[in-house]
Amino acid sequence: MISLDGKVAAVTGAGSGIGRACAEAMATAGAAVVVNDRDADAAAAVVAAIESAGGRASSFVADVTLPDTANSLVAHATETFGPLSIFHANAGGAQPLPTDETDDEAYRKIMALNLDAVWSGIRAALRVMLPAGGGSIVATSSGAAVGAAYGLAAYGAAKAGVLQLVRSIAVEYGARGIRANAVIPGPIESAALREWLDKLPDGAAAFGAQVPQGRLGRPEEVAAAVVFLASDAASFINGANLPVDGGVTAKLASPSPE
Ligand SMILES: NC(=O)c1ccc[n+]([C@@H]2O[C@H](COP(=O)([O-])OP(=O)(O)OC[C@H]3O[C@@H](n4cnc5c(N)ncnc54)[C@H](O)[C@@H]3O)[C@@H](O)[C@H]2O)c1
Repeated sequence: MISLDGKVAAVTGAGSGIGRACAEAMATAGAAVVVNDRDADAAAAVVAAIESAGGRASSFVADVTLPDTANSLVAHATETFGPLSIFHANAGGAQPLPTDETDDEAYRKIMALNLDAVWSGIRAALRVMLPAGGGSIVATSSGAAVGAAYGLAAYGAAKAGVLQLVRSIAVEYGARGIRANAVIPGPIESAALREWLDKLPDGAAAFGAQVPQGRLGRPEEVAAAVVFLASDAASFINGANLPVDGGVTAKLASPSPE
């Protein structure tokens, strides 16, 4: 099993879905974990679950799109458990909306959550990690960053920005002990995806059937990749964009004999 013993991690948007699974998996691997979410009850439930399983966790309730959150989150981690060594910029999401119906305010909200907050979070983490000699940064991007999907133009642009941001951090800071990588989840069963699929006829089954593995993914399957990238087991992996998508981004529309 991969070990994160002695590491101090912070995960944004860790109150549910992929973020929750990542926070719990990091704690199981031995890290002390700061669970950030804007939903206080959700964050508290994750901390309670980690502690009752014998792990160490602390909640930090804040909206990642607010200007002070990134620095305060990193400071909270350092004060509670010691210098931050793993930062997972995970909070994000958007419900599909056609481009011509997306006004400036809706566009700005999507960018603020899915790109600006990732930028400010990574910058705050770097300012603690660099003096400490290094650290590992993981960001949650999306399949919408590498292939276009209905109603996700702004979200996809933001998530593509996340992939480039991670490559840039890898190149700028690799020699100073920082690794930065991204996961590219495909359709993963979470509250956010369910909200969208529930609006569609036969939503989950129809979406799952489009995936080469024939089903939706589970948050725990993304968490396994995030824990690996965050850990010393990935010590020479830097600037990677790792799909966790059952083959979705490998697929070309084509006729099949089966
Ligand atoms: N589920 C998928 O199919 C899928 C696919 C690709 C990428 N992603 C990405 O994975 C990440 C997690 O998505 P999920 O599906 O697990 O979503 P989710 O809705 O299950 O969980 C998101 C969590 O983030 C929190 N959150 C939202 N906005 C926040 C903010 N401004 N500040 C702090 N916390 C905030 C929510 O309260 C919630 O607990 C997102 O970045 C999303 O874009 C998800």
